[in-house]
Amino acid sequence: MQSEKAILETDLNLPGRRAGKVRDIYDLPPDEQGLRLLIVATDRISAFDVVMPTPIGGKGRLLTELSTFWLRFIASRGITRTHLLSVDAGEIPESAFRGARTSREDLAGRIMIARKARVVPVECVVRGYLEGSGWKEYQQTGSVCGVKLPPGLRQCDRLAEPIFTPATKEEMGKHDENVTFERASAIAGADVLRELRERSLAIYRAASEHALARGIIIADTKFEFGMGESGEILLVDEALTPDSSRFWPAETYRPGAAQQSFDKQYLREYLEELVREHRWDKQSPGPLLPPEIVVRTADKYRSALERLAH
Ligand SMILES: Nc1ncnc2c1ncn2[C@@H]1O[C@H](COP(=O)(O)OP(=O)(O)O)[C@@H](O)[C@H]1O
Ligand SMILES: [Mg+2]
Repeated sequence: MQSEKAILETDLNLPGRRAGKVRDIYDLPPDEQGLRLLIVATDRISAFDVVMPTPIGGKGRLLTELSTFWLRFIASRGITRTHLLSVDAGEIPESAFRGARTSREDLAGRIMIARKARVVPVECVVRGYLEGSGWKEYQQTGSVCGVKLPPGLRQCDRLAEPIFTPATKEEMGKHDENVTFERASAIAGADVLRELRERSLAIYRAASEHALARGIIIADTKFEFGMGESGEILLVDEALTPDSSRFWPAETYRPGAAQQSFDKQYLREYLEELVREHRWDKQSPGPLLPPEIVVRTADKYRSALERLAH
């Protein structure tokens, strides 16, 4: 494993700083087309919506490279415009580093310069397979987010058609909630939501075909969209990473039980063990992570990137 400096948080001399679970965001001076953001993917990792105190060194770079690959893939197929403008840390104004603890080198490979958008507060989830909250809901009701599914499906079964299952985007610390198409329409507007459903399904179809050819099943994934200044719809945030998707190795896929995955599985299993032993209660703050969990998690992210984008 290469040793690189892990970035848990950033400090830049730029206005508008806000921190998500994984990303630090700043405002950049606008260009002719409008407002711009600097989005920095740190090495933070969250599980059960709690940010862990231990970073996964290099994760932010892996996520940025994979997201960038997909945003370009999506735009090049004409599916939707995206917020991505540049990934060149050289374009960040010098003044951002004046009196700041974070350097330009710290940021190399982990930034996106993006068009600032008004984010639609609906998580656009697409499921091609039945797992997670979709599987839970199906067992209780036979549907997912109001989409009726045939009886007798097993855990992780492939669906006949991918389905759009929106969720509300909740404030930091709260869990997102699955909602029906009607409920999500009331939040986003029916016309906008129909458009987001079409674009989400189109992205999922193109991306899952590419991934399958590389031996990866994209079981489900989440997109965020926003409105640009002139009212155009943009795909924003990250796309098709292990943080926003379930990736399964195709060669070991067996429906009827949980699958191996290219994501936080080791971390989640380790945390569940702590919970069983009453050493953690799934509330913030998270526990410090042992080195083998950090290394194995980073390896999973790296192998997903290599399979999908190299
Ligand atoms: N182009 C954009 N314009 C405005 N906000 C954006 C844009 N792209 C992403 N965001 C927002 O930036 C945040 C990304 O940081 P992240 O750590 O992933 O946050 P979260 O904890 O909400 O997942 C999200 O809240 C996302 O909605
Ligand atoms: Mg996020």
